[in-house]
Amino acid sequence: MIDITMIKFAVLADCFHCPVKGEFAFNIDWLLLIDHQGDIAATYQPQHPEYADLLATFKRNDSLQVIPKGEYLLPGLVDLHCHAPQWPQAGKGLDLPLYDWLQNYTFPLENRYSDNDFAANVYQDVTKTLLANGTTSAVYFASIHRQSTELLAQTCLNVGQRAFVGKVNMDNSDQCPAYYCEPSVTQAIDDTELFVNNVFELAGNQSRLVHPVITPRFVPSCTSELLQQLGGLVQRYDLHMQTHCSESDWARDYSIQHYGVSDVTIYADMGLLNNKSILAHSIFLNQADIEKINQFKAGIGHCPLSNMYFANAAMPTRELLDHGVQIGLGSDIAGAPSPSIFRASFDAVSHSRVREEGVDIYLPASKRGTANARISFVEAFWMATVGGGQVLDAKVGLFEQGYHFDAIVIKANSAIGNLRIWPEFDSAKDILEKIITLAQPENVAKVWVQGNAVI
Ligand code: GUN
Ligand code: FE
Repeated sequence: MIDITMIKFAVLADCFHCPVKGEFAFNIDWLLLIDHQGDIAATYQPQHPEYADLLATFKRNDSLQVIPKGEYLLPGLVDLHCHAPQWPQAGKGLDLPLYDWLQNYTFPLENRYSDNDFAANVYQDVTKTLLANGTTSAVYFASIHRQSTELLAQTCLNVGQRAFVGKVNMDNSDQCPAYYCEPSVTQAIDDTELFVNNVFELAGNQSRLVHPVITPRFVPSCTSELLQQLGGLVQRYDLHMQTHCSESDWARDYSIQHYGVSDVTIYADMGLLNNKSILAHSIFLNQADIEKINQFKAGIGHCPLSNMYFANAAMPTRELLDHGVQIGLGSDIAGAPSPSIFRASFDAVSHSRVREEGVDIYLPASKRGTANARISFVEAFWMATVGGGQVLDAKVGLFEQGYHFDAIVIKANSAIGNLRIWPEFDSAKDILEKIITLAQPENVAKVWVQGNAVI
């Protein structure tokens, strides 16, 4: 029998999650017990001999949260790649190629974050918006400014979002505009190390809800010396690392021309890869790259809609899932405009389907696409939850003992919103697919992070 004094509260709900890749479980009237640290202490099915007694006890103690029928408990969503300072730019300039988009829109905007008041306003809005969309764990690129990046970390703590926050590093004067470029490698490294220590020491961050992330923007924007020294910080402190990897023809070719090897090899050689590295995009990978990613247990942040605009090719998601590569999803705000990881899940499926069918009507159907490239909605949802957790090496994305209680309640049939469930027509699988394809912030009725209700 569980020690009841360990339990902060219990939740009774109809729950979806994906303990097995490619499959889902739907547990009706599941009882989840959450401990005082905000972790899942135990789960009970109605058939369990202690279920009725436990339910009665928590009801009596007034510590039972009953999720009404027609509402569903899901693991919170994981966004592996979001540029917080680009939020005001969402939806703009997406007809440009990556290089022009960065130079014309992104760098001038990111440079505004030397102003802490401007930053405070945007960072409050973007973190709350992601939470409202059901994102309980977010991996943020900030800007090159240490102070406002610390403010982003503090904001995540204040709003109660699990977050992985990086001060951007970029010092290559050939590629970065003079107004938005680190003055020296030493300055960039000193600032980054100070940032790491300051995030660990933020008041209220004792349980490490917010993690610092080493963040070289991507190969073209960094000198090799900066990459090397950032790799030193990753190794010395055993830190998360995020960057863009082989995102487009241009980015891939830049690395080959300047280093003679691929992005994955560059990052590995610089000491930047470990079991907590998040490689955004990673479109143009060769077999050796895939093996190297697996060898380090690094992971990929797949950003399907952004890829449609900037990648020049489609992501081989099917093959990566089948190779056991750790892979989750990213919004890539503002390389794509939507802050929703449900939307990213939907886009991941569409992306794989276009790849499977092909696009050129002048080719016969048999030659048009890549056979068997599709992924399912359940696989996309697995990436949005379990896969993201694996990439981060964090206990999130599943309802199992020892996992953090990061969860959302999806309410169907609300007055405003598109999600409609018809009990007589919709199976459990139909309901999950409808949630993935149709849920909007209007349907996100409740959000918990680490056992704390934040919405
Ligand atoms: N590559 C380098 N910087 C960026 C960025 O800000 N967004 C995207 N999508 N790609 C990048
Ligand atoms: Fe990006």
